[in-house]
Amino acid sequence: MSEIVDLGAYGPDFVADPYPYYEKLRAQGPVHHARTPEGAETWLVVGHEAVRAALSDPRLGKDWRAAGLLDGDNGDSPLFTNMLDTDPPHHTRLRKLVAKEFTSRRVEALRPRVQQITGELLDAMLAAPDGRADLVEAFAFPLPMTVICELIGVPSMDRDEFRAWSNEIVSPTSQEAAQEAIQAMAEYLVRLLDDKRATPSDDLLGALIRTSDEDGDQLSRDELVGMAFLLLVAGHETTVSLLANGVRALLQHPAQLAALRAGPSLLDNAVEEMLRYDGPVETATWRFASEPVEIGGTVIPARATVLVVLASASRDPERFIAADDFDITREARGHVAFGHGIHFCLGAPLARMEARIAIRALLDRCPDLAMDADPDALAWRSGMLIRGPERLPIRWTGRVE
Ligand code: HEM
Repeated sequence: MSEIVDLGAYGPDFVADPYPYYEKLRAQGPVHHARTPEGAETWLVVGHEAVRAALSDPRLGKDWRAAGLLDGDNGDSPLFTNMLDTDPPHHTRLRKLVAKEFTSRRVEALRPRVQQITGELLDAMLAAPDGRADLVEAFAFPLPMTVICELIGVPSMDRDEFRAWSNEIVSPTSQEAAQEAIQAMAEYLVRLLDDKRATPSDDLLGALIRTSDEDGDQLSRDELVGMAFLLLVAGHETTVSLLANGVRALLQHPAQLAALRAGPSLLDNAVEEMLRYDGPVETATWRFASEPVEIGGTVIPARATVLVVLASASRDPERFIAADDFDITREARGHVAFGHGIHFCLGAPLARMEARIAIRALLDRCPDLAMDADPDALAWRSGMLIRGPERLPIRWTGRVE
């Protein structure tokens, strides 16, 4: 049996900047038996090629419930009846039903509204008399949150409460707190869906309640709760950190920032490079081996859990030249920030649209945007799923109306 890599022994530096640790692990091999800082024993996949192989391997499953591996009090929560917690054929069926409604037309139709929300949030942020703000609080969080709530059709929810549950579920502070958040979120969504059934609406949830495929297949009550949960959480947690990490990368690389200001046509590629260089999803969600699986020369035993490290794959020098450099002109395609295989991010077009609009507007409106904190002293989200700062203090002197 190989030696266990103890990620907890790396200390807080591993959370602030995990990349040098992943670099060392990659140099020793693409797959490692490891223990997470929270103490869970798992198998880490860190090489780019191995990551793609793992994400497209049907023997690495996601349906913990069907495999009898989901324990604890929340095994029965309808939240987990969602695409990201199922395997084919259940996954195929759920994804097909939502893909019918989550069309590029529906996403494109949101563009003017995303622009408007962006403008309003920047107006409010830039009104601060001292020329200072926390970018996460003032902009990076409320933008995707407002967009996803409007898309899905969450009319007047208590956003602070919702954000607290959502944060707790993706970056748990304790198991008890996470379980309470799961319970509260499920109750909230059941009520919301009951309201929508009583009063039909044109939003995505309204459409999903009505939707059925050619065979008359429809989403069950639990599947609707799971779908609403997944779309709401996946739809904002990630984009918040894409904006925060992306702006941080720009502000710490003044030549890249200047190049982007001088060449607006670089914007789309700059967003891809932000996703590659410091994407918001550090590891894909937990997988388990349904049988022994060999990846990159290492055999992962049956029933073992697997963490596929997207952040490491996107920095693999075997795939990207000078992978640790932030270079908005590079060919960044091939990053795995949105995953790979059948669970590839459903919301990638929406995330890209939001990020492009947000970054462009922020730079246009703040010609001298700067960090207002020691970049090495930022507090980071806990856990290995989401990578992003809790707060990103920024300042500006001039502003464009
Ligand atoms: C920058 C923003 C985003 C990033 C980096 C991101 C990343 C990802 C990744 C890595 C996965 C695969 C996870 C795995 O295989 O374990 C995923 C799946 C998913 N994402 Fe995103 N995401 C983003 C934004 C969004 C948005 C805006 C939405 C929805 C509105 C969304 C909806 C989903 C859904 C539904 C899945 C599950 C797909 C399936 O299981 O077939 N994501 N995302």
